[in-house]
Amino acid sequence: MKNPLYSNDIAFELDQKRQDESRQGEVLVIDAPEDFISNGKSYYIESYGCQMNFNDSEIVASVLASKGYKNIQTHESADVILLNTCSIRDKAEQTIRARLAQLNKIKKTNPGTVVGILGCMAERLKEQLLVQEHLVDIVAGPDAYRSLPDLIEEATGGQKAVNVLLSREETYGDINPVRLASNGVSAFISIMRGCDNMCAFCVVPFTRGRERSRDYRSILQEAQDLYNRGFKEVTLLGQNVDSYRFSYDPTLLGKKLIEKKDTDEVVNFANLLELVAQVAPDLRVRFSTSHPKDMLDDVLHVIAKYDNVCNYIHLPVQSGSSSCLERMNRTYNREWYIDRIDAIKRIIPDCGLSTDIITGFCGETEEEHRETISLMEYAQYDMCYMFAYSERPGTLAAKRFKDDVPEEVKKRRLQEVVDLHRKHSLESNLRDIGKRQTILIEGVSKKSSEQVYGRNDANKVVIIDKGNHKKGDYVKVIVTDCTSGTLIGEMIKD
Ligand code: 5AD
Ligand code: SF4
Repeated sequence: MKNPLYSNDIAFELDQKRQDESRQGEVLVIDAPEDFISNGKSYYIESYGCQMNFNDSEIVASVLASKGYKNIQTHESADVILLNTCSIRDKAEQTIRARLAQLNKIKKTNPGTVVGILGCMAERLKEQLLVQEHLVDIVAGPDAYRSLPDLIEEATGGQKAVNVLLSREETYGDINPVRLASNGVSAFISIMRGCDNMCAFCVVPFTRGRERSRDYRSILQEAQDLYNRGFKEVTLLGQNVDSYRFSYDPTLLGKKLIEKKDTDEVVNFANLLELVAQVAPDLRVRFSTSHPKDMLDDVLHVIAKYDNVCNYIHLPVQSGSSSCLERMNRTYNREWYIDRIDAIKRIIPDCGLSTDIITGFCGETEEEHRETISLMEYAQYDMCYMFAYSERPGTLAAKRFKDDVPEEVKKRRLQEVVDLHRKHSLESNLRDIGKRQTILIEGVSKKSSEQVYGRNDANKVVIIDKGNHKKGDYVKVIVTDCTSGTLIGEMIKD
């Protein structure tokens, strides 16, 4: 495991891109846009948490570049220091608090520096960090990034600057994100913001507000632009992509979409996926995250129909027990989830499948935990992100239930699911040996400069000898060996 953000969380490194639980404090490298005119001021930004947050930092970069702020990679000399933060578990917030304390020391040597906190923690704690704890000068929630230049000005003038208003409309659809720390091969496109589900454990609906879908035309434009610039893969991002719905006429959004002919008026996720797939046959399309209650067969048929829509679904189950799922307010039960897995395996036989699991949620009994284990046996996940439950203030669970599973029981259960998953991922990789696959090369292997790595359709990392391959090449390989985390392959000629 690399970069563990939380001591009690385990995020497997099988998926380097969906490291949402293991990315912390990454410094983003930002190239100034061609039409950049400097205002003489610089900023430094660090990002924490999920992919959505990293994508948001790209939007922030774009907003600040348009006002002449230059991005730099060292905080010591920056006029403005920004942390884009995550609240998903307590440990995440603690890490960020420690970092804020460190950064504040800079103000002693350079009192003019403005420190700002963005993202979920800004939204959750609002003025507390500013007024009570005096840790920051700017607090900007996820829907307030357009106002950042004004907030910076206010803070530079010595005032405390806050904007934590959540919007029902903001999608930043018209802002072309500056691509940060990009490998030039794959990019993320946010297709919606917020979440209308109220999973009992989750702070996201409170920090990111109501769900809203971005105009599909701006999404297609962004995908096309990326393709024109040489990108070969886009991942469509949302908290719950299957409930994507866009209409020119908002009154239509409440209506149930039954037939495809309605798509002139309403674009749902299956329609959007199909439209993005049609941008270019050699532009791979991925998406994350699906909610089991909303993931219906129409999306699966689109995946099956288009070669460039990758055969990989991240379908968080959280628990394998219907009673626990009910307390979690996930609005599906074990049988429904199993039906969705069966549908995936029927419609897309070689589909990669991954999930999120929480151990030790309020009231979780040993029997309920066993049901999670048996569901894992059934699903045979290729990848799995596993967490011990961490109570978040203000959530439904915090209001309704006691966080009553002892810490050592949470951890023991977590270890059991981790061990089982390791076994499954090794078995899944062993099954790939001898198979022919196409991989998209993403870069040089960290372990050897003589090797490159790429990802297969099912999102598994495959390592091959470097040869003449370069980033962005599609290479046909045969899998020859594996570990529980990686496949090893050799190039083949068709
Ligand atoms: N405690 C532990 N894990 C959580 N997640 C969300 N909220 C919590 C929490 N309070 C996990 C869920 C979700 C993933 C992004 O993080 O599994 O799918
Ligand atoms: Fe949180 Fe549930 Fe929304 Fe995911 S779907 S962001 S877990 S409330």
